[in-house]
Amino acid sequence: MRIFKLTSVIICVAFLLSCNNQSKKTGENTAMGITKTNEEVVLDKSVAKLKEVVESLKYADSFPRNITKGEKEWNLVGVRDWCSGFWPGVLWYAYEYSGDAALKAGAEKFTEPLKTIAYTPADNHDVGFMVYCSYGNGYRLTGNEEYKKVLLSAADTLATLYHPKAGTILSWPEMKHKFQHNTIIDNMMNLELLFWAAKNGGDKKLYDIAVSHADVSMKRLVRPDYSIFHVTCFDDKTGEFIEGKTHQGYADDSMWARGQGWGIYGFAMSYRETGKADYLTTAQKLADHFIARLPEDGIPYWDFDDPAIPNAPKDASAAGVVACGMLELSEQLKDEKLKEKYLNAAKELIARLSSDDYFSGDTNDALLLHSTGHYPNNSEIDVPIIYADYYFMEALLRLKKIEAKKLES
Ligand code: GLY
Repeated sequence: MRIFKLTSVIICVAFLLSCNNQSKKTGENTAMGITKTNEEVVLDKSVAKLKEVVESLKYADSFPRNITKGEKEWNLVGVRDWCSGFWPGVLWYAYEYSGDAALKAGAEKFTEPLKTIAYTPADNHDVGFMVYCSYGNGYRLTGNEEYKKVLLSAADTLATLYHPKAGTILSWPEMKHKFQHNTIIDNMMNLELLFWAAKNGGDKKLYDIAVSHADVSMKRLVRPDYSIFHVTCFDDKTGEFIEGKTHQGYADDSMWARGQGWGIYGFAMSYRETGKADYLTTAQKLADHFIARLPEDGIPYWDFDDPAIPNAPKDASAAGVVACGMLELSEQLKDEKLKEKYLNAAKELIARLSSDDYFSGDTNDALLLHSTGHYPNNSEIDVPIIYADYYFMEALLRLKKIEAKKLES
């Protein structure tokens, strides 16, 4: 029995109808008589809100991370927090869509302090999230040569965590006492920085490191049923594989929703960068497993195996990451039916996130409600989290570009 609100159903259906019939745009009519697609309507609302929020944040070295339940404003973190790059990334996406000068200035302001991450020893694999979401988007949109230097240095910094015997990057140096040489599925996302650097003037070995990391992750983190371990442990001296574990999931053998998302996106992106067919097949099978296990309202619980389901919290951030991964997958596949399958699955996720159930409206300063960060740690449960907003913006923009391309062809 479907339990979500009638209004949300109507919004979802309208969104999907609009997405599926772009030659007849069915979004909102503007005062100028221009009809906008539904993702453009959502992007407009998001940009208007981000313009207000960025004005309210005075300190460039303090970054939104989450909002406490019942509060309106972001809790801020420092530059070394793993989430610091998402806020400038959100602003770059908002600027990309709107061309708004104030948003560009905000993106530049919050990107600048992250430079230190590229030039100081890596605390963890999150160098990729921090620098690629901020400087990476900034360089893509502006061509600023200073940004390029920071990105190249960040790639070298990330590569210092590579363990040649294990064949992977160390994700969490501070967790070696518990997991030895550990590699988490999230780390797949950070390979994009290495692939980018290898083809933009950086050391070609960065490409080999990224490929080795993806190969070993595919072998050791992906389970035979195409769910994913969060963490793999390797002997720190010999590099030998020990076991799969969890850190943020319900259990070692459970399916942590965001981890599944990092895998789908990470392997689809790695296929784009290498053309290695195994990565594409893996991304597809991970996506199929995710789709097959989605609950009826279309947004995953934080972990698919939490016995508290249906009373477990959701994770909107996982839905955003998966939407981006499926849009990448759809673009990489050649078969028209398969392309449509993942495009439509991504549209459904985006439509649900855009509905009143998940899109925050005036509730608080975030774009999305209902994400879960680290349930076993009792932290960030069912609250807005900045990376949910980042991947939501990315998904909306990706969808807009795909549909514009379709209209042209
Ligand atoms: N990369 C950490 C997380 O997904 O929570």
